[in-house]
Amino acid sequence: MKDLRENWSSNFGFVLAATGSAIGLGNLWKFPFITWKNDGGAFVLIYLVCIIAVGLPIMMAELLVGRKTQKSAVGAMREAVGPAWGWVGTWGVMAGFVILSYYAVVAGWSLFYLFQTLNWSFFGFPAQANMGGLFEGLAANGLLQTILSGAFMLLTVAVVFFGVHGGIEKTARLCLPALFGILLLLLFSSLTMEGSGEALNFIFRPNFSELDTVAILEALGHAFFTLSLGMGTMIVYGSYVARERSLVNAAGSIVLLDTVIALIATIIMFSVIFTVPGMSEQVDGSPVGMLFISLPQLFYEVVPGGVVLAPAFYLLVALAALTSTISLLEVVVSYFIDQKKMERSRATLLSGACIYMFTFLSGLSFGAFPWLSNFELFDGKAGFFATMDHFASNWALPLGGLLITVGVGWFMPSKDTEAELVESGSPGWFNYKAWLFAVRFIAPAAVAAILVAVIFFGKDFS
Ligand code: TRP
Repeated sequence: MKDLRENWSSNFGFVLAATGSAIGLGNLWKFPFITWKNDGGAFVLIYLVCIIAVGLPIMMAELLVGRKTQKSAVGAMREAVGPAWGWVGTWGVMAGFVILSYYAVVAGWSLFYLFQTLNWSFFGFPAQANMGGLFEGLAANGLLQTILSGAFMLLTVAVVFFGVHGGIEKTARLCLPALFGILLLLLFSSLTMEGSGEALNFIFRPNFSELDTVAILEALGHAFFTLSLGMGTMIVYGSYVARERSLVNAAGSIVLLDTVIALIATIIMFSVIFTVPGMSEQVDGSPVGMLFISLPQLFYEVVPGGVVLAPAFYLLVALAALTSTISLLEVVVSYFIDQKKMERSRATLLSGACIYMFTFLSGLSFGAFPWLSNFELFDGKAGFFATMDHFASNWALPLGGLLITVGVGWFMPSKDTEAELVESGSPGWFNYKAWLFAVRFIAPAAVAAILVAVIFFGKDFS
């Protein structure tokens, strides 16, 4: 039977697809914003430590569980760790369902701004533009939200429909080089801007007096989100990797690329923001503010070549979001294929339709529909969208991540984990004992700290 499982056509294709999953709205939307909120430097340093000490080891843990068993999340945890651990996989499938449902809403906004900037580039940017008003209008327009997120969901379903090789890998091969190209273009242009010096200072000069414990936990929570960890995405992607490939190398490349891209995106946005007098005060508001309110205007009024760069930028956001949404959908779809023996085409259409019902609710929770906009399950998180995001980032991913790292570190025979990581070849920097120590002690302790903070101090990391 095993021979029937689809595989990535090459190691490069796999690394691209997994990197595509990791790079997404987390890098372009969340990371710059939380870096801003936490005053840069020291926060960035802590984030890098979290990525290396917690993210990288768990990335390897998820990939190895998938590759060893050649199964998707539920079956993989069951077979690799033990029968009861299948629940961890089920939890992950549910988390994927939830995350995709609201992620598609923001992804839909990127389509809106792509069309909008194309329109401005061709027909001119209005002199008295009210960008805040434009965004609020979009947010509260239920029909528009429904269409945009529906279009994005359709794109996602279309890719996953064609499978690992013909859909996911092909899309990654097309999107990622385009994404890197656009990002480099933007980086070069932003480095010529006046504010770039200040931006680099802000991002890379640590000032520890600004840092509090909340920031440390926020950095850790984001490390999970941005690397697509804690819900089995990397288990599923790992299950399509052939035996002879080095998982350590792959994990290293994915983590490195994701981190570099997050930093580049931050440099670009901050260079623009610091170039405009008064802009930094204006940005202090909301996370959507930076990406969808401040930036569009700046592109047309400040950035040289903004007419080209603005649509390019929103195309970049949409492509990055797409390679992430397909990985979220694939976790759900592969569950139905492996566990319920469904055909891919049926599984994809069915999951897509079910998830979209929740997307629809999230999209209407920005003012279009009062009951959904005021829906409050967690204190201070009003709205269906915010509730879903809070649940996923603060509960589902950390809990899933904790169980995966404990399962792999303590309950999976170490000869199995060693075989997966070392026998297929590992680079010189890799030390199996250090990895084992990280998944047994460092990662569980760090993740437990997030959960304790959420439970006892009600901290919010979304
Ligand atoms: N990592 C993606 C981002 O940064 C989002 C994402 C895709 C994700 N798959 C995931 C987050 C699985 C958590 C779990 O935008």
